[in-house]
Amino acid sequence: MSAAVPSITLNDGKTIPQLGFGVFQIPPDETAQAVNTAIELGYRHIDTAQGYRNERGVGEGIRASGLDRGQVFVTSKLNNDAHEPNEARRAFAGTLAALGTEYVDLFLIHWPLPTRNGGDFVTTWRTMIEFLRDGRARSIGVSNFQIPHLERLAAETDVLPAVNQIEVHPYLTNEAVRAYGRAHGIATEAWSPIAKGRVLDDPTVTRIADKVGRTPAQVVLRWHIEHGDIVFPKSSSPARMRENMGLFDFALDAADSAALSALDRGDAGRTGPHPDTFEGRPRN
Ligand SMILES: NC(=O)c1ccc[n+]([C@@H]2O[C@H](COP(=O)([O-])OP(=O)(O)OC[C@H]3O[C@@H](n4cnc5c(N)ncnc54)[C@H](OP(=O)(O)O)[C@@H]3O)[C@@H](O)[C@H]2O)c1
Repeated sequence: MSAAVPSITLNDGKTIPQLGFGVFQIPPDETAQAVNTAIELGYRHIDTAQGYRNERGVGEGIRASGLDRGQVFVTSKLNNDAHEPNEARRAFAGTLAALGTEYVDLFLIHWPLPTRNGGDFVTTWRTMIEFLRDGRARSIGVSNFQIPHLERLAAETDVLPAVNQIEVHPYLTNEAVRAYGRAHGIATEAWSPIAKGRVLDDPTVTRIADKVGRTPAQVVLRWHIEHGDIVFPKSSSPARMRENMGLFDFALDAADSAALSALDRGDAGRTGPHPDTFEGRPRN
């Protein structure tokens, strides 16, 4: 790691490393090794989910590192089939058991599922608040929430999400949702920050990478960092894990940053489902 990873202070006063390691699609039996390697390389923030089926490996990888639990920030997410309060309580206990820890640093509702359960993600959010109050979730947040969903939580409960984890990359800048977060103190976490690799051979990205002497992935991840968002690129390669940490000893100029933002394709740029219509099946 060439320079220290900055921390972001959340609206509940907790801090989160701005760069982490995502483990979506890392097979369960390879996750402990991948997480252990990431920690050896300097990552101190791991993003998993019940739906990834690899929480157990995340816990094993952290324990194998020899670091204290408090030195690694761990996020997990409530699965789409567990929004009903008793299901959520059972699923959250399952997360802690699988991770082998007494708390998670951050627990998220994975998808709002506005077309399921009568669109009642507010009751699910109230159950999340129980986990916050009893200390087993140090922070709570949401994922894939649109502005109307966030407005409902604000109107109907007294706890705002600490983060909203949404798809963001140069092909989907998701600026309106990000701006709502900025205005209301909800940090944005950008998932699929390199669009699962799809932006890396874009001519604008490669031109800027050549100009600044960095890789395409580093240029795109730096763009996110300069926006103030939190990112956790996934890689199964130690070399690319290391590459994805090399973000803190260079900067983009305003023109290059604007050129990356101008690649936005709106909804056509999505690599994942649309949050307004996604029904949560299959697991995601
Ligand atoms: N909340 C949600 O609904 C949601 C949805 C999707 C993702 N996420 C989270 O966001 C994390 C990251 O998203 P993601 O995994 O979908 O996509 P991503 O991080 O944008 O891209 C991962 C892909 O890019 C490749 N890659 C990584 N670094 C690279 C580099 N330096 N150069 C070239 N290729 C590189 C990886 O291949 P290799 O492994 O071969 O390096 C992998 O195929 C996930 O792991 C998960 O934690 C959340």
